[in-house]
Amino acid sequence: MAKIYHDGDADLEILKERTIGVIGYGNQGRAQSLNMRDSGLRVTVGNRDDEYKDRAIQDGFDAQPIEAVARASNVILMLIPDEVQPEVCERQIRPHLRAGDALCFASGYNIHCRRIIPPKDVDVIMTAPRMIGQGVRNLYQQGAGFPCLIGVHQDASGRALDLALALAKAIGATRLGAFHSSFEEETLIDLFAEQMLWPGIIKLCTLYFERLVENGCDPDIVATELHLSGEFVEVARAMITEGFFKQLRLHSHTSQYGQLSRAERMAPKALLRQIDKAMEEIRSGAFAREWAAEQERGCPGLQGLTRKALEHPLNAAEERLASLKDAMARVYIHRGINNATPRPRNRQY
Ligand code: NAI
Repeated sequence: MAKIYHDGDADLEILKERTIGVIGYGNQGRAQSLNMRDSGLRVTVGNRDDEYKDRAIQDGFDAQPIEAVARASNVILMLIPDEVQPEVCERQIRPHLRAGDALCFASGYNIHCRRIIPPKDVDVIMTAPRMIGQGVRNLYQQGAGFPCLIGVHQDASGRALDLALALAKAIGATRLGAFHSSFEEETLIDLFAEQMLWPGIIKLCTLYFERLVENGCDPDIVATELHLSGEFVEVARAMITEGFFKQLRLHSHTSQYGQLSRAERMAPKALLRQIDKAMEEIRSGAFAREWAAEQERGCPGLQGLTRKALEHPLNAAEERLASLKDAMARVYIHRGINNATPRPRNRQY
């Protein structure tokens, strides 16, 4: 059973004695900085000169170059994209780290995959929200929380866990619950979702589209059934409100029988081998090496795959259904985590 920490398990005092520097003001950087400020903490933002820095200044933060913030802070939150963290950390942060400082990550990847190896005398901690930045901010403002994983990779000060808990509280995570985890576990669950679960969903959805069209169905009707109707989202929502399997009672008996009986045969040995391969590539570091090499080449593989995805006939169906798509987007954008009150359904498509 995972240990879950709540507000009462964390004390912000430890942060009040420290100088907090947030590196990056994007999805997570902005949300976490604003939440920490609203929790009564003083935060300085370290950002290169770009529109994110302007945004931080507009939001009333003291925004400085990354190196200046690294020099002045003793708790440093790394909230720039994972791909750029190793270089920024090595060149602009590491030279300014002092014994007893703390480095905090929102993802386990760079530490677990040894793309960043911090000096031994600093705390290395993780507060990794299971939520997009916009949700981190909006849920905080609504007085709610969001799930988060916390972990300690290095405890140089002896107080690394207290620090991780305090940061989780300051960003609003312990209101709902922060799970005691590790950099390794966070990396595994994150990458395995990205490399097994979501590819499976993408492949099954596109096969659903392709096979139905091959069998004479209208591509626009199939695209509507697949995702544009919003049923997919409603099922996912019911998995939270009712339960992953319990939501099946909201479907017809024919549907329940079809889903449960066919699910049994959807994982033949060949697929299980691919699933195990994905896990092995993550655990062995082969994926991290492959992705680092791809980035060094300028990401031609990613560009090619993206181009191919955007050429799939499902995109053409979406374009033909632009007004339906816009109407459904108005229903779903800013619903749920982004806005407590759903907008009225617009049926004019
Ligand atoms: P982002 O893509 O929103 O980061 C943008 C920021 O990075 C901007 O401040 C920009 O100035 C800075 N930046 C970009 N390239 C840079 C470079 N070469 N040098 C210096 N600064 C640069 O990042 P995001 O999505 O907020 O991710 C930050 C961390 O949070 C990552 O470790 C990510 O894995 C983690 N995370 C992200 C979540 C999300 O919802 N996006 C959810 C949970 C964790």
